[in-house]
Order: sequence, then C-alpha cells, then structure tokens
Amino acid sequence: MSRTDDLFALFGKGVSRDPEGRNARLHFFGTIPFDDGTRVNKKDSSRFSANAPYAHEHLQPFDASVPRPAVVALVSVNGGVGRSTLVTALSSGLQRLGESVVALDLDPQNALRQHFGVDHELPGIGRSSLVNVNWQTLLQTGFAGCQVVPFGDIDMRQQENLQRWMAREPNWLAQHVSALGLSERDTVIIDTPAGNNVYLHQALNVADHVVVVLGPDAACLGTLDQMDALLAPYLGRECAPRCHFVINQLDEHSAFNLDMVDAFKQRLDENLLEIVHRDPSISEALAFSTDPLDNLARSSASEDIHELCQLLRASRNARATAAL
Ligand SMILES: Nc1ncnc2c1ncn2[C@@H]1O[C@H](COP(=O)(O)OP(=O)(O)O)[C@@H](O)[C@H]1O
Ligand SMILES: [Mg+2]
Repeated sequence: MSRTDDLFALFGKGVSRDPEGRNARLHFFGTIPFDDGTRVNKKDSSRFSANAPYAHEHLQPFDASVPRPAVVALVSVNGGVGRSTLVTALSSGLQRLGESVVALDLDPQNALRQHFGVDHELPGIGRSSLVNVNWQTLLQTGFAGCQVVPFGDIDMRQQENLQRWMAREPNWLAQHVSALGLSERDTVIIDTPAGNNVYLHQALNVADHVVVVLGPDAACLGTLDQMDALLAPYLGRECAPRCHFVINQLDEHSAFNLDMVDAFKQRLDENLLEIVHRDPSISEALAFSTDPLDNLARSSASEDIHELCQLLRASRNARATAAL
C-alpha cells in the first residue's frame, strides 16, 4: 500500500479491494525483470541480443478496418480540472447504463488507480509496455462492473524510453487498444496528462470522442487557443473525432463562476458545451476510493454526469451506425 493508503487505513478506511486473481498476477509480474527499453530476445530471453526485436514489436500492425471499441479521451491543457475524476464517474455511469467500459490511465502520474482504489504496486501499462505484456493481463476491477487499466509506477528512465517509443510510433496506443480484444460494443475511456505531450497525441490519434475538461476560471479560458491548435490536426481528419467541452466544478452560488460560464459560451459553440457542478461528495469519493456516483443521488452533479453519459452513448451508437 502507498503512504496515502496507510493514512486512510489509520482512519479505518479500506481503500483497496482485492478481487480474485490480483495477488496472483502481482506475484507473477513481480518475477519479471522490467525492461529498460533495450532489445529483448523473445526466444532465449536474453535481453541484450543485438538482433532481437524490441519488446514492443509483438504488437500487430494497426489495421483501422478491424472492429474496435469506441474510444473517449478526456484531455485538458490545465492540470487539476477533473479529468481523472470524470473518467472515473463516466466509466461507472456508462456501465450503469448497461455499457461495457474499460477506464485506461495514460497519465504517468498514475492517479486513476487511486480514484478506483487499485493498489499502486500492481503493474500497469507504463512498465509493462516496455516488455512483451498484453494489456489484457493488466485489467483490474473498477466500479459498477467496469474495468480499469492503471498506468502503474514507473521511474524516470523508463518513462523517457516509453515516451521515445510513443513519439516514434503514432499508432502505439491504437495497437495496444486493439490487442485488448474488445468489441465495437465496448467503450474505452482514456485519462491523459495535462498539456501538450506524447500521451495526449496518442490519445487524440485513437479517439472517437474527445472531451475537453475545463475549470470555470480565467486560466482555462486563457488556454482555449492552445487547445484549438492541439485539436486542429485531428478534427481536420476524414474520420474526425467528435468533441465536447465540459466546464467541471461549477459552483452555482459563485457569481464569478457564472460569469466565467458566460465567457466560455461566447468563445465556444454552446451546443458543444456541457456543465458538471461542483459536489463535495465527489472529492470525498476520491479520498476514500469509492464510486463517486454512489453518494450523488439526485444532485446536480449526478444529473450532469448522467447527461454526459447519455451523450457519449449516443455518440458511440452514431459511430456504430455510420460503420454499417
Ligand atoms: N465535480 C467536482 N466536484 C467536486 N470536486 C471535484 C469535481 N471534479 C473534480 N473534483 C476534485 O478536484 C480535484 C482534482 O481532480 P482530478 O480529477 O484529480 O483532476 P485532473 O485529473 O484533471 O488533474 C480532486 O480533488 C477531485 O476530487
Ligand atoms: Mg488526473
């Protein structure tokens, strides 16, 4: 357990569940020396053979015509706006609507695992992608029946190697998502780090729906031009992703917050603008790694998240119909 988990344990709050098989997988991965980006010989396991393929080369070439899950990417230029929180809430919400959801952490901060109460020592995509590991083996139990793929702990050198690889192979994420073996009826919701980085571009490259998360403040309003520039190449594609903007953590009692919403409405297409209200039970859910939707009954935030889920579901259905 992490030190934070220890602290919660002091308060008598259990923060990690251990569904069947988790410890067994941890034990299994614990015996594998994580790769540092050097070449790996799959036949004799010698890690330093000059002619051996890279660990990543087990991935099949990306075939865009193969049926694959709908992919939603939550992105922002500014940090702390609620990307991970909304990935968690939307995964639970969509799953409650009968969808089949995988929440995927593509942020080396490895914070999504805390939202879902997944032990930080469990392996995630960061280190596992440097060796020959299919992401299917990393799936953990989330809320309401959804699944979670954590990023996992990673050191700076491994992170640099991973990022170099991602910069070289734009379809890296698309390949890994397709290797998850999901169908077009499934939805993958991706959490990304704030700002302009390789993780964001990998997510935008594979996304069918982009959700730009904003705070009701001048900092986020001031970065909309940057976000436009980041999205432009992807929105200009033939099969462009749909895109929505969500102002998260709106306080209806704050005149300033409401003024900011008006300012966003002047700058953005109102039809593409959604609101999620601030609700203390959402931040409490993070503190105790519980499902944020469990304590949100009949609140504004609950209605907002439900509406967003409906919107994503409609988008997924429209995509499926267009593919017929
Ligand atoms: N709608 C909301 N109401 C109340 N608190 C929220 C809401 N959305 C996010 N938060 C809180 O804001 C903080 C930052 O959220 P987080 O999801 O970690 O941001 P990000 O992933 O964008 O860095 C967390 O403490 C989270 O609980
Ligand atoms: Mg986050």
